[in-house]
Amino acid sequence: MTAASPFPLDEGEPFRYRDGVLHVAGLPVDQLARAAGTPLYVYDLDAVAAAYRRLEAAFRPGQVLYSVKANGNLALLRRLAALGAGFDVVSGGELLRVLRAGARPGRIVFAGVGKTREELRLAARGGVVVHVESADELAALQAAGIEVGTRVRFGLRVNPDVEAGPHPYLRTGHDETKFGLPARTAVQLFRRVAAGNYPNLDPVGVHVHVGSQLADPGELAAGARVALGVLQAGRRAGLALDRLDVGGGLPIAYDGGPVPSPEAFAAALARLLAGSGTRLQVEPGRALVARAGALVASVLAVKPRPAGRAVVVDTGMHHLLRPALYRARHRVVPVRLRPPAGLAWLVGPICESADVLAAGVPLPDLAPGDLVAVLDAGAYGMVMASNYNGQPRPAEVVVAGGQALVSRQRETWGDLLAWESRPARRLPVAAPPVRQLAGSRP
Ligand code: LLP
Repeated sequence: MTAASPFPLDEGEPFRYRDGVLHVAGLPVDQLARAAGTPLYVYDLDAVAAAYRRLEAAFRPGQVLYSVKANGNLALLRRLAALGAGFDVVSGGELLRVLRAGARPGRIVFAGVGKTREELRLAARGGVVVHVESADELAALQAAGIEVGTRVRFGLRVNPDVEAGPHPYLRTGHDETKFGLPARTAVQLFRRVAAGNYPNLDPVGVHVHVGSQLADPGELAAGARVALGVLQAGRRAGLALDRLDVGGGLPIAYDGGPVPSPEAFAAALARLLAGSGTRLQVEPGRALVARAGALVASVLAVKPRPAGRAVVVDTGMHHLLRPALYRARHRVVPVRLRPPAGLAWLVGPICESADVLAAGVPLPDLAPGDLVAVLDAGAYGMVMASNYNGQPRPAEVVVAGGQALVSRQRETWGDLLAWESRPARRLPVAAPPVRQLAGSRP
């Protein structure tokens, strides 16, 4: 690729042009698509490993807990577990997934604003640290500890009332969101724990997460400062708290604009936490996996419109929801490099006007059967995919060490019917008899 390329891909990126064809980790994407079909998610696991090593070095001696909600692909989780990563999970399903991938329970934290009794019991049995988000949940966790017959480690998640993040849906740290406990409430709960009200629970620290795609390290530090205050108050109440989990939110540059580096975030936290005697934990999701993945699609039709050319592909908002949900922008590139022929709208087959993957982006002349790749789709892509409009979900291919593996099969039409294939089960529920009350008036 020359510097004058209409589709510039940086030196260090996993997806690069070679001889006019998009490659990932040395393998031609057109051949991957031919072999596995489209639509297809492709992840470069060596790129994920490189991103992990960089973050691990930046935050050391702090611990990096990968936020599984960004991408739960088992092969990807196995690779991170083998590198020694910890994990941030938000459901029983994610917890079982990371355990299956070989994660060590001592390096797993379980967050989430609403956990069922079953999930709390699973966490208690698994020996993971539970991040508690309400007084009711603390009571339920104590009950789960008794039921399972074990002690359970926990941290309290604080809502620091910090506004951060580029889109309202990506802000989790201000007091109108559903997340966490107000600092004052968290301190009160710690005092009740110190008074012995939760005999099966062992408090270990404080958790906070202000939002995603943070524009400034100061935003992460602002949340961490509030969390540190709560931790110190808990210590004054007599608790041995040392873990300070500052959440995720490290950004990537979707549109090529500058974003602060992981090292800049680490430096801001180091200044804040110096001498505090805390063990730092960070929960990056996107920063580890977004760049490493692309969604590869085939063109089905090209429609001239007064508003501009619509390129209809075999994927859409049902497989990559980010553009429809947050108006997120993703780079779109042709798999075979050719000069752009004006602007195009990359649209999917879904019966929703929001089903636009990219609006007004430069693309070459395209015809049915041509391939395009939506880049930076390794985070919050497949995990947010649905079967809307009766669409099967894509296959996932992982590339590592020069080899490509189908790590998750493409769903079939048969799969879509599977949950309704057993005879319908009658529920033991009957309508109550209607009572006719003589003389009653409405
Ligand atoms: N920790 C907690 C408690 C979180 O809630 C999240 C993300 C993370 C860590 C990881 O955040 P990251 O480093 O990936 O920004 N679906 C949206 C993002 C929602 C994120 C929700 N929580 C998207 O596609 O951008």
